[in-house]
Amino acid sequence: MSFTIDSRLPDVGTTIFTVISQLAHEHDAINLGQGFSDYAGPELLHERLEHYAKGLQHQYPPMTGIPALREVVAEKVTHCYGYAADPEHEVTIVPGATEGLFCAIQACVKPGDQVIVFDPAYDSYVPAITLAGASSVHIPLYAPDFRINWQRVKDAITIKTSMIIINTPYNPTGMVMGEQDMQVLQELVRDTKIVVLSDEVYEHLVFDEQLHQSVLRYPELAERSIMVSSFGKTFHVTGWKTGYCIAPPQLSEELRKVHQFVTFVGVTPIQLALADFMQACPKHAEQLPEFYQAKRDLFASAMADSKFQFTPAAGSFFQLVDYSEISDKDDLTMARWLTTEVGVAAIPISLFYEKPPESRMVRFCFAKQDETLTKAASILSAL
Ligand SMILES: Cc1ncc(COP(=O)(O)O)c(C=O)c1O
Repeated sequence: MSFTIDSRLPDVGTTIFTVISQLAHEHDAINLGQGFSDYAGPELLHERLEHYAKGLQHQYPPMTGIPALREVVAEKVTHCYGYAADPEHEVTIVPGATEGLFCAIQACVKPGDQVIVFDPAYDSYVPAITLAGASSVHIPLYAPDFRINWQRVKDAITIKTSMIIINTPYNPTGMVMGEQDMQVLQELVRDTKIVVLSDEVYEHLVFDEQLHQSVLRYPELAERSIMVSSFGKTFHVTGWKTGYCIAPPQLSEELRKVHQFVTFVGVTPIQLALADFMQACPKHAEQLPEFYQAKRDLFASAMADSKFQFTPAAGSFFQLVDYSEISDKDDLTMARWLTTEVGVAAIPISLFYEKPPESRMVRFCFAKQDETLTKAASILSAL
């Protein structure tokens, strides 16, 4: 074959989430790898989708999202974070947070720019930065607490820095940013042209009575931020691939210019169903911390006698565990071994670092039925 193409993403392969999920399926392993739940979302939400699927509204919705959904999202962020979002000019419904993140990066980052990312970084950020013609400036975060060293961020900011991407609660570490983190970030970007892209898909999964520190709580940050969230995580329907972006009008306008040519719109019946459900059950999100904290604690206590070491996650539905007392395998080999030989799928974290540290850690997802968690923990405790 004489035809070849110069890849724009030569270092990118199939995402590890797909690889591990496929292995888990082939080996009939309990899948604590990929971040999705093994229980259905609320019955009413499914009932509304069925209603709209059988109805007549199957054509393109407005490019920015169904008005009723934008309105209920605006009400939610006002209620949760005191940010009075204008549903018309500041809320955009997107087909998944991944699309929102991608469009935000393409809209705000130019060739030659630098974008600061924290490692381990969610795997969609860097390819999107590369496709924008910019370079990623990696700031590594390390065990045990994975907190951000803001002096390193200050040192990394240059005239070319056009964006900083933050993620709280943090996948895969479970770290949550505190008020002080947000205040330092606010000071660092003051008087710059830096846009903050705030990945808050786990916004409602913050434990131990802590508050989720959305950029929307901080007026000075909010005026230069695009906040991205996912209905998939909040309503246990990751396969519905629907999310939202909140940004001030000027940033939303730029975001929408890209969104309209990437996907144009999200799926109509799904948006209608979500709008109905959120109107009918406005307190759903408020119950999530308790729901997931119970799962985190159940998994932690079931793993208490195992040789895995860990500090319970402060947020998200992920638990990082150190396996150095069990094996000195690297984490990719360990995750594959756990999936194919032990029967419990896990995700390695070194792949999310530019320069992987010498750690022996894998990630488990605890968004699973209690029986699934107990069964997995009993298998893992036998190692
Ligand atoms: C940190 C983070 N950002 C974004 C996403 C993507 O969300 P969505 O499925 O809505 O595209 C995920 C999903 O796992 C995630 O963990």
